[in-house]
Amino acid sequence: MVSREMALEVEALREQLEEYNYQYHVLDDPSVPDAEYDRCLRRLLTLEAADSSLLRADSPTQRVGASPLSHFQSVSHEVPMLSLENAFDNQDMVEFNRRILSRLGEEAGSLEYACEPKLDGIAVSLLYVDGVLERGATRGDGRSGEDISQNVRTIPSVPLRLRGSGFPPVLEVRGEIYLPKEGFERLNELARAAGEKPFVNPRNAAAGSLRQLDPRVTATRPLEMCCYSVGLVKGGELPERHVEILQKLKEWGLRINSQMQVVNGIEACDAYYESLAVKRDALPYDIDGIVFKVNILALQERLGWVSRAPRWAIARKFPAQEEMTELVNVEFQVGRTGAITPVARLKPVFVGGVTVSNATLHNSDEIERLGACIGDTVVIRRAGDVIPKVVSVVTSKRPGDAEAIIFPRRCPVCNSEVEREADEAIYRCLGGLVCAAQRKAAIRHFASRRAMDIEGLGDKLVDQLVDEGLLESVAGLYTLKRESLLDLERMGSKSVDNLLAALERSKHTTLPRFIFALGIREVGEATALNLANHFGNWEALVAASESELLKVDDIGPIVADHLRQFFDSRTSMDVVTGLREAGLQWPNLAVQSAEGLPLAGQTWVVTGKLESMGRSDAKAHLQALGAKVAGSVSANTSKIVAGPGAGSKLARATQLGIEVIDEAALIALLNREGVSL
Ligand code: IVH
Repeated sequence: MVSREMALEVEALREQLEEYNYQYHVLDDPSVPDAEYDRCLRRLLTLEAADSSLLRADSPTQRVGASPLSHFQSVSHEVPMLSLENAFDNQDMVEFNRRILSRLGEEAGSLEYACEPKLDGIAVSLLYVDGVLERGATRGDGRSGEDISQNVRTIPSVPLRLRGSGFPPVLEVRGEIYLPKEGFERLNELARAAGEKPFVNPRNAAAGSLRQLDPRVTATRPLEMCCYSVGLVKGGELPERHVEILQKLKEWGLRINSQMQVVNGIEACDAYYESLAVKRDALPYDIDGIVFKVNILALQERLGWVSRAPRWAIARKFPAQEEMTELVNVEFQVGRTGAITPVARLKPVFVGGVTVSNATLHNSDEIERLGACIGDTVVIRRAGDVIPKVVSVVTSKRPGDAEAIIFPRRCPVCNSEVEREADEAIYRCLGGLVCAAQRKAAIRHFASRRAMDIEGLGDKLVDQLVDEGLLESVAGLYTLKRESLLDLERMGSKSVDNLLAALERSKHTTLPRFIFALGIREVGEATALNLANHFGNWEALVAASESELLKVDDIGPIVADHLRQFFDSRTSMDVVTGLREAGLQWPNLAVQSAEGLPLAGQTWVVTGKLESMGRSDAKAHLQALGAKVAGSVSANTSKIVAGPGAGSKLARATQLGIEVIDEAALIALLNREGVSL
C-alpha cells in the first residue's frame, strides 16, 4: 500500500522538477544549481522504484530513455504539416506582400507580420491530450511521419505535461528540434575523442539523434525544441493572433523563440531580416533564414494555402553557408612557427555571401578523416566571417582519376626536414628562420597593427623583400636602404618615404608590444602584457628562470619552455640585439604586484561575443587592474562578463549565483578606473 504521504511527496517532487525544468529551458533563468535538480530527481526515482503504482508516463524520471524499438511506427497528421515558400531577396518579399494584399482585396496597406528566425533543425509535432504528452512525430512527407515519442520525451525543453490551465483538451504543437552550436561542438569533440566520425553540421547531428531506435542514445544528445505553431486543436479557445498563441504556448511550458517580433508592413520585415543577419553568428543555434507570417489568424484563413505551402507565410533565406565544389589541388602553407597547413584550392563557388576559392584542411588527420582526394567534389562551409572549411566529401561523385593527397616529407618552401611532435596533429618545418615562409610570416607578424604597427609594410612587400634577399630577419627592416626600396616593384618615392617614416615611428614602442611582436610561440598579446607587467623590463625577463616565469599569471610549463628556448637561442637573441642597436626603445614599467590594484584578489571569466573590444582586450584590461582571468566558471569566480552567444559558462554562473555583467557595464567599470579604451 502506498502511503498518502509518499504519494504527496512524489507529486510535490514532480511539480518541483517541472518548475526547475521550465525555469531552465523555457525561461532561460535557472533558480537552483544542477545538484539540487539531481537530488530531487534521485529522490523521485527512489520513491517510484519502491512502488511501481507511483510511476506515471509523464514523470520527469521517464525522460532518461525507455527500451530500444525495432522500428518507428508510422503516424498520420490529421492537419498536414506544410512547408514554406522561399524568398531570396527583398524583391521576392515585396511580391509576396503584394499577392497577399490583392487577395485580401486591398490596394495598399500595412499588414501585421510575425517575424521569427528559421531554425535549421527537424520539424516535429507534439500531441498533448488533456495536457499530457501523448505522441511526438516527425514531419515525414507532411501527411504522415514517424512516431518518435520515446525520443522526444528525453528532450528537457519538451514538457511531458503542460503547465497552468486553459489549454485545449487536444492540442498539437509544432516546432523545430535542433542542436545548439555549443552542444554540437561538444558532441563532435566526444566523437573525435572516441575515434568516431564527427557530424557534418548541427542539423545532421539533430536528425541522427532523433532517428535513434534506442532512446537512451537520444537522451545523451543536448537537443532542444522551439515551438512555432499549432496543428490539430480540439475544444478550448486560442487567441486571434499568431504571436499571442505562441505566448500562450510559453505559459503552458513550451519553449518559443526569444527573437520573435511583430512588425507592421513589408519594409519593417526587411529591417528585421537585416538586423538578424547581423546577429546570426552570435546566436547560440543555426538559422537559415527568417520566417514571416501574417499575424492575424482570420486573415491566414482567408488566404489559405496552395500546393503544400501557406499563402500567408514565407521563408526569406540567408545566403547558403554550404555548397559543393571541386577540390582542384592541395597546397601546403608554412606558418610563422613552421606549422604546415594543407590548403584546398577550389573551383570558385559562391557560399556564405562571398566567392570562395581556398579553404583550410587543417592538418593531415583532417585529410584522413575526410578521406579527400584531389578531383573530389567536396562540401564547403562558410559561416559568417569564419574561414571557409571543407566539411565532407561526396564520394559518390569521385572521378576515376582522383589522386591521393600526399603530405610532404620535407618543407615545401625550404626543403628542411619536417617533424611531427608527439601529441600534435601538426607537422612542422624545422628550418626556423632559414625557411623563407617562416621568415615572411614572422616579419608580417612583427609589422602587424597590434605589434609594431608598421604602416605600409604589406604582405606583397614582405614577399618581395625576402625573395629579393633584402631582408633576413626583422632586425633588417631598420637598415633597409632608400635606393634598394626604390628598385622594388610598385614602390614610388612617396611610398618609400612613407614606409621609412613608419619604420622610424615604430622604434618608439612599448614593452608589451615588443614582446608580442617577437612572435614567440604561444605568446599572444595578453601573455606579453602579463610578462611586461611582471618583470617591468626586458633584462629581467630574459634573465628569468623557468620557475620564475611560471609565477606569471596564465603562464604554464609549455609557454615557459617556449620563452626559455627563445631567450637561449643565439639566433633569436642576435635579432633582438640588432633591433635594439637600430634604436628600438620603450619605457620600463613599474613592476606591478596585483596588491593595491582595484581588482586584486578577484577572478573573472569573460564569455560570449564582445562587440566593441573583443575578449582578449577585455581580458588584458581586467588583468591590468589586478584581476585573474580564468577560462572556466567555478565557485571561486568573482564576476563574469557575458556577451551575446554566451552559453554554458553563463548558465553555470547564474546557477552559482555569480554576478553577471554585460559589455556596457564592463566599459563603465574600466572608465571609472581610468583605463583608456
Ligand atoms: S512555420 C505553415 N516557422 O521550416 C508553416 N517553420 O520550410 C510551416 N522552420 O518544415 C512552418 N523555423 O521545419 C515555421 N519559425 C518557423 C520555423 C519553421 C524553422 C522549418 C520547419 C518547416 C520548414 C519549412
